[in-house]
Amino acid sequence: MKEGIFNLTRREFAQGSAAALVGSTQVAGKLAALETGTRVSGELTVDASATVIPFNRMIFGQFLEHFHRQVYGGVFEPGSPLADKDGFRRDVIEALRELRIPVVRWPGGCFASAYHWRDGVGPDREPSFDKAWGVEDPNTFGTAEFVKWCRLVGCEPYICTNAGTGTQEEMSDWVEYCNLRNKGRNSRLRKKHGNDEPFNVRYWSIGNENYLGGEIGAKTVDEWAPLVRESAKMMRAVDSNLKILAAATVTGNWTPPMLKAAGRYLDYISIHYYWDALWQHGTHPSSYMKCVVAGPLPERHIQQAVDLLNQNGFGDKIKIAFDEWNLRGWHHPGFPGGGGNQLGMIQERDDNDLNETYTMADAIFSASFLNGCLRQAKYVHMACMAPVVNARGPLFVHPKGVVKRTTFHVMKMYSDLLLPNVVSSNITCDQLQVEKDSVPALDAVVTQSDDGKRTAIALVNRHPENAARWQFKLVTQVNPAGATITTLSGDSPDAYNDAAHPDRVVPEKRALVLRDGQIEVPPHSVAIAQFTS
Ligand code: AHR
Repeated sequence: MKEGIFNLTRREFAQGSAAALVGSTQVAGKLAALETGTRVSGELTVDASATVIPFNRMIFGQFLEHFHRQVYGGVFEPGSPLADKDGFRRDVIEALRELRIPVVRWPGGCFASAYHWRDGVGPDREPSFDKAWGVEDPNTFGTAEFVKWCRLVGCEPYICTNAGTGTQEEMSDWVEYCNLRNKGRNSRLRKKHGNDEPFNVRYWSIGNENYLGGEIGAKTVDEWAPLVRESAKMMRAVDSNLKILAAATVTGNWTPPMLKAAGRYLDYISIHYYWDALWQHGTHPSSYMKCVVAGPLPERHIQQAVDLLNQNGFGDKIKIAFDEWNLRGWHHPGFPGGGGNQLGMIQERDDNDLNETYTMADAIFSASFLNGCLRQAKYVHMACMAPVVNARGPLFVHPKGVVKRTTFHVMKMYSDLLLPNVVSSNITCDQLQVEKDSVPALDAVVTQSDDGKRTAIALVNRHPENAARWQFKLVTQVNPAGATITTLSGDSPDAYNDAAHPDRVVPEKRALVLRDGQIEVPPHSVAIAQFTS
């Protein structure tokens, strides 16, 4: 496949890396212990001219791919004592319900670009060879199972169609199968398969990363634009209420022609990024410092997408779905498309399950990512952490139970404690120097209730050793009564949870004490201050 005509290689799509890490306690104790230590200082100002924008909770979305142990051995494990009659892990559903996940994207990722939905429906299913990941898929977890699982978790199903080896017809037939009550052969097929009621799948994306030369069924820029237009037309011809997304990039010449040809049919552009490039052989998770210095990069990526939408006249119509994001790229040397015979390489994917990889670096980076989405609430209306379980996910699933990794707690804190409106604010703070890079040591986002009476502020301290002293300069007075702060920090930047120590890093809630408008948060921490005024 001649590289030139395709938009990007995975290398161009990535960043570089090196070596991993490791160890918890009471926040108050930590702050006291640091009494004499230097402080990082920051000032958070909200003035009367602040803008207030509601944010879309769909930014707390997740992603599930037929890769390694996400589906089989993750959410779906028929025969496990922890599974229900349909084979869904009950403990996984229970934990994910805590995150109040609004939407889950499925079945992939690269897997989607060679997936034929008819292989995963009905009573007579045969295993198929997964050309993306070089393994056999038993097809026992298909459309009906995914939708049922989503309803159990309490989230919207979001289906990624096959724009690689599939056709527009196959995409729209899938919409028929899911959403038409009883018109045509596909909805009748669903009923014949025992699902009388339509599945009502609202969210559909056209394709995955078909701009990458390594994607099965990669497309050229000239092929992509008309494909998206005709696919969207056919899908909307089945169900006019769909929310349609299409695979986009924020740089290069892939997206503008697509917007020109198909923008009027689209609700979102779908963008992806991972910042710690760990796909290939010999790559190792980056250090805490290398990870936190990447904290501001997602927002720059989002700004590029915002500029691109505005430059092409769709800034007020089409929203951004960052529907694959995570700090760490998944480890899958030699793939996608590396060959079913590459057993050694396939085995190496087990490295994704090393819980020591997922430290406070992942927690702080994830909070920085969400802060970037919140500050761009006008444009970013969806984001899906990739993936939801196992690999780099917030929840690790093993045969005897689950482990809530540091990122699980960040997602839960943001989902539970933030209020629906983002209030613009200004931050000035010390910088953190990491080799030649300098990054703000602190970050914060202010949210408030619709009546303006309650405030919740997300506070990030990237400093590995020093506590931070924030000076709040807010329009509203902080009422000390009932004011609290919930903090996640761990006993070191490299602290993590695993099956042996599932609660080493957990959030701690305590009364919020402001002295002259100042509060302190520990090093390497994510905290949410809540108060009324
Ligand atoms: O590494 C996982 C892959 O990353 C997903 O399948 C793909 O969509 C992304 O590039």
